[in-house]
Amino acid sequence: MKILGIETSCDETAAAIAEHKNGKIKILSDIVSSQIEIHKKYGGVVPEVAAREHVLNILPVINEALEKAKIKKSEAPKKIDCIAVTIGPGLVTSLIAGIETAKTLSYIWNVPVVGINHIEGHIRANFIGDYGKIKFPALVLTVSGGHTLLALMKKNGKIETIGETRDDAAGEAFDKSAKLMEIGYPGGPIISEYAKRAKKNITKLPRPMLDSPNFDFSFSGLKTALRYALQKDKLWKNKIPEYCAELQQAVIDVLIHKTINASKKYKAKTIMLSGGVSANRELRAQLSSAVKKSDIEFVMPDLAYTTDNAAMIAAAGCFKTHNKKFADWRKLKVDCCLALN
Ligand code: KG4
Ligand code: ZN
Repeated sequence: MKILGIETSCDETAAAIAEHKNGKIKILSDIVSSQIEIHKKYGGVVPEVAAREHVLNILPVINEALEKAKIKKSEAPKKIDCIAVTIGPGLVTSLIAGIETAKTLSYIWNVPVVGINHIEGHIRANFIGDYGKIKFPALVLTVSGGHTLLALMKKNGKIETIGETRDDAAGEAFDKSAKLMEIGYPGGPIISEYAKRAKKNITKLPRPMLDSPNFDFSFSGLKTALRYALQKDKLWKNKIPEYCAELQQAVIDVLIHKTINASKKYKAKTIMLSGGVSANRELRAQLSSAVKKSDIEFVMPDLAYTTDNAAMIAAAGCFKTHNKKFADWRKLKVDCCLALN
């Protein structure tokens, strides 16, 4: 079965073709057109600009995905079995661009369409390849610019949120902190590059909600703590690598502590990592070594499938089509606040 995935929930216009066969998901093409250069000068995503860019880019991106997968446009209605499109959460006008495209293709190709939750997409990035290695119950830590949450998958397809951020997401804390230090956008990758050069000692930042008796997170106070630390330190501009390393470690400490505790409580057999922040090399290395101390399996997505992409949406679609959960294209609509369960 071949699935066309479409993702336009924020500032990446993406299309991908996945093939689901014999318990494996193979990505035949994966095209992402990023708008980072456009939004950089504003220090964040401007929703109206993002939506207009999606409208311009979506068809060329889909054409390229078909071409890379060696599917001629004229053969697409026969060769594509289903279209999977992100319907939320995300920016309303950006989502509409992808959804309306998917509905139109569904109608003219006469191919069924399924709506995908963006966070479920991130989680399904871990299922690309041979997903037989994932044993249940599985625990998933999703860390992105819009979300930070721990979810439990009791069995394949049954996802339940067990904790989430009460304010800012981890990626958002990185992005806002980078703005504070005037080091660029998006903050996550820039902070992680600076962090590699840290040498000096600086005051520790807090580890928010580390010992709270639940699996929720809070990262907005961390950014405020950084602001106060910079205000007190007249020489902070000489210590940007140190502040980046401390901020990164504060976030990683909380994420790992909560994930390991949750895995014990729910007797997880697999721990998975997902979302844009899962591109962070320190987080990948430290979580992997923390999990290695147990007999739990650790799975994380390839770097290409960490930040927003359509391969993960096509992968999520593989499981919806499996259960024949097709939507009528007429009923498909945006849900910018769509919950995971
Ligand atoms: O999943 P994603 O592409 O979009 C959302 O669904 O939000 O995540 C984007 C977030 C941004 O906050 C960005 O700063 C962060 O992921 N990010 C990183 C890294 N690469 C992207 N954070 C830390 N380290 C990275 N290497
Ligand atoms: Zn995302």
